[in-house]
Amino acid sequence: MKKLFAALVFAAMPALAFGAASNYPLDKANIDLTDKAALQDGARTFANYCMGCHAAQYQRYERVANDLGIPEDVMLENLVFTGAKIGDHMKIGMQVSDAKDWFGAAPPDLTLVARVRGNDWLYTYMRTFYDDPARPLGANNKVFPNVGMPNVLVGLQGKQVIGCKQVQVVENGKKQFDPLTGTPITHEACDQLTVVPKTGELSAEEFDEKVRNLVTFLAYSANPVKLHMQRIGTYVLLYLAFFFVFAYLLKREYWKDVH
Ligand code: HEC
Repeated sequence: MKKLFAALVFAAMPALAFGAASNYPLDKANIDLTDKAALQDGARTFANYCMGCHAAQYQRYERVANDLGIPEDVMLENLVFTGAKIGDHMKIGMQVSDAKDWFGAAPPDLTLVARVRGNDWLYTYMRTFYDDPARPLGANNKVFPNVGMPNVLVGLQGKQVIGCKQVQVVENGKKQFDPLTGTPITHEACDQLTVVPKTGELSAEEFDEKVRNLVTFLAYSANPVKLHMQRIGTYVLLYLAFFFVFAYLLKREYWKDVH
């Protein structure tokens, strides 16, 4: 009986972990972990827009500064708002119990969120907040329905609403084009996310870039050694290529007199 129960719990685990899952198709984040500028921009966005509520408490400011090539004084001045020291963990002041009262759910620590949710999920999540007056904080989300988090990037993205727009017809997974003119065949769909023009600071492309950078930072944060592993891997390959030349010369030397 106990075994059966355990089996059931394990079977239900994926569903529990992704209790808030929806079938919304995810956009590809296409991040580049070696892009230092993207990582720095992502770190700045994280400190400015996320650390009011979310900590990254398994990560130290110092480590981030070193990995991302940010000088320590710049880091302290621009990315640390809590009076923390450079060697401190990236914690925040908000109490979990307060957070539960305010948002209905505590904002989870984000150090490892990229491993739990995946980059594409994060990329889509941050871009699919929309106005929903029925929600306590006026915002809802496509990939995390009835989320407790407010739409914190609304100033950058602009006011996003569910409305009607022309979308390309897709049949059997293939986008449809007019065979004569080559133009996309569209139809009006009324469950589409649209940004109200001139309500955000950034254009759609700039906003996508901002979020991609933020996701790049979160992906780095979830696996900081990846940067080092890639660098070490390059050195190893360079060394092997270099060594090959000498090994080859040596081989020629040894076999010179053997006919
Ligand atoms: C005003 C507070 C607040 C701010 C600022 C905020 N969040 Fe949140 N966030 C929340 C709350 C509350 C939740 C929990 C929502 C729930 O469970 O319904 C949450 C949930 C999340 C989740 C889902 C985590 C999971 O796996 O369930 C992610 C990812 C996230 N936030 C990312 C961000 C990022 C990135 C930023 C900065 C751009 C940010 N948040 C800024 C309050 C905030």
